[in-house]
Amino acid sequence: MTRDNVIVDVHTHIYLPEYLDMLRERSQVPRILPPLQEGQDERLVILPDEDKGVTTKHGRPVGPAYYDVREKLAFMEQHDIDISVVSLANPWLDFLPDTKETAHCARRLNEAMETYCQQGNAKRQLFGMATLPLSSIDASIAEVEYVATHLPHLRGVIMGTAGCQGRGLDDPALLPLYEVLARHQLVIFLHPHYGVNLPSSNHHNNGHAVALALGFPFETTYAVTQLILAGVLDKVPNLKILLAHAGGTLPFLAGRLDSCVAHDPAVANRLQHPPSHYLKMLYYDAVIYHSTGVKAAADLAGTDRLLFGTDHPFFPPLEKSKSSRWMSVDSNLEAIRHAGLDQEKVTDIMGRNALKLFGIIQ
Ligand code: URA
Ligand code: ZN
Repeated sequence: MTRDNVIVDVHTHIYLPEYLDMLRERSQVPRILPPLQEGQDERLVILPDEDKGVTTKHGRPVGPAYYDVREKLAFMEQHDIDISVVSLANPWLDFLPDTKETAHCARRLNEAMETYCQQGNAKRQLFGMATLPLSSIDASIAEVEYVATHLPHLRGVIMGTAGCQGRGLDDPALLPLYEVLARHQLVIFLHPHYGVNLPSSNHHNNGHAVALALGFPFETTYAVTQLILAGVLDKVPNLKILLAHAGGTLPFLAGRLDSCVAHDPAVANRLQHPPSHYLKMLYYDAVIYHSTGVKAAADLAGTDRLLFGTDHPFFPPLEKSKSSRWMSVDSNLEAIRHAGLDQEKVTDIMGRNALKLFGIIQ
């Protein structure tokens, strides 16, 4: 690997063993259920009301790829990934109350993530994202200070769209948290979890497909729009935000957002710029699987703001195949390679942009 052909995966998850232990003790979603049959994997039930759905209540099998660092390193090797920036998978600590125990839990997870990252090696390096105790903004600020000064492998925080106790990302009380993140140049990796209440079909069993394909990106679209319309990026312009799944639908809907804002007296004069100006200040992962989506994000924000990711360990192949490569990874790669971009830009997206964004020195 040289700095020029480095491959960095900025969207890759783990459920740390400490987190899984906590989920095993819970009797409500999110929770871990025992295997359906002996010898099978435990099952993860995380989406709201997933345990009530006829087709989803048994959750998803959660095997070693979800928690074992050796599996992450093997996956990186199979796909020629040099560096992974690993984040805890959803729903983080969003569901815990504002207590000292929640703050302690975040600290334990962040220490564990630092230890996890130290198990990378010269060929396959690991960096991480911290998890915040978001039911308390003060505790989250204290955690950011700790991460920035004590946990050198952690280069950002992963956040859902709920904000503090469900009040959303435009909650004015979050401003000091955004400010401390910007001061330390830690990246917010904004990731969906809740979807947007899409009704399930009365006629067909679509499993999780629609919630993940549409509910997740719609959720991100709405949350980021709220953040922008609150003027957060006028107030904290150096905040670094990386959006999951190529920004949901924002690259496609940016013009409509500008126009609707410009024509509504309630919001037309609130911001210094049209919403799309702020969308160009954000970073986008390229986890979108079609070159149409890659082109839209590149057109809107520029190829220097687009970064390769895999969403590992989600979307594994459904059936064992001869190839050790995953279809979900290869379709992302194809999308980037066939978006009509110069090779130099592709190289930026595959890794060089991430080195810059996360301050990784090679
Ligand atoms: N499903 C999830 O719950 N999270 C992801 O990141 C991807 C798929
Ligand atoms: Zn993800």
